[in-house]
Amino acid sequence: MGLLEGHQVIVTGASRGIGAATARRFVDEGAAVALIDIDADRGKRLAEDLDATFHQADVTDSAALTDAIDAATGAMGGLTDLFNNAGVGNVMDLDAYDDAEWHRLIDTNLTSVFTGMRAAVPHLRAAGGGSIVTNASQNGLRPTRGEAPYSAAKAAAIALTRSGALEYGRDGIRVNAVLPGFIRTGLNDFICDDPELAGPIEAGTPLGRIGHPDEVADVVVFLCSDLARYVTGHSVVIDGGSLLVNAQVDPLLRGFLGQ
Ligand SMILES: NC(=O)c1ccc[n+]([C@@H]2O[C@H](COP(=O)([O-])OP(=O)(O)OC[C@H]3O[C@@H](n4cnc5c(N)ncnc54)[C@H](O)[C@@H]3O)[C@@H](O)[C@H]2O)c1
Repeated sequence: MGLLEGHQVIVTGASRGIGAATARRFVDEGAAVALIDIDADRGKRLAEDLDATFHQADVTDSAALTDAIDAATGAMGGLTDLFNNAGVGNVMDLDAYDDAEWHRLIDTNLTSVFTGMRAAVPHLRAAGGGSIVTNASQNGLRPTRGEAPYSAAKAAAIALTRSGALEYGRDGIRVNAVLPGFIRTGLNDFICDDPELAGPIEAGTPLGRIGHPDEVADVVVFLCSDLARYVTGHSVVIDGGSLLVNAQVDPLLRGFLGQ
């Protein structure tokens, strides 16, 4: 028997990458799944493959996302879990971002999380409780250069996760976040396959390798399952330990240890 038998799950940003991998894991664990994405071609193909439903929406359009969540819930006959996963990034100096790009990154990575949570809560209450998981990022704890709006959005998504946990615990709704480090998703194969580019990333990761989407999916499944029934408001870092690297005193202590 799967960990999520009887669950009815929505995944946003589900057409590829971490969203697609997680949708597949949800199905493997026995859940009914609905996919939401702006990319209808890939989304419909995946839905067919997984025996899921697909609902096209741009998550930055709050009315469209709300309608898609309502339609997906109707198609499954209820909702027990939402994975707020859709996100986009960009890299440039902070002062090079114009207003439009700032808003695109904030709306996709943060406002969609708020809208998704707001739209899902009535359905989760109707189900007698459930779980919301948001895909934030390690960047929400430690920003990377060139990703100021993205990092700000992910930090705020972590705060929103804690607010949701605080407000909806008595409804039986748990709200958590996953914070991936660098994960191979297909789009970044050119980095992962080039030793010159991948080498420094691996060197900065105690587990010594780049992560896989299934390794994020497994944690999301755990957070939605009954195994995590007393876990809420938490942010789980999935980064092979890379946040541990380069503490301020590391170079000094490496010197003491002769390394
Ligand atoms: N890959 C990583 O290294 C990494 C690390 C940390 C966090 N994350 C987070 O994981 C999540 C998924 O990232 P990924 O690497 O799988 O990315 P990806 O680009 O492979 O997939 C993102 C999906 O979101 C969809 N999407 C984008 N904008 C949308 C919009 N406005 N409306 C609806 N759908 C939209 C895309 O069509 C795509 O299917 C994101 O929130 C990202 O910030 C990824």
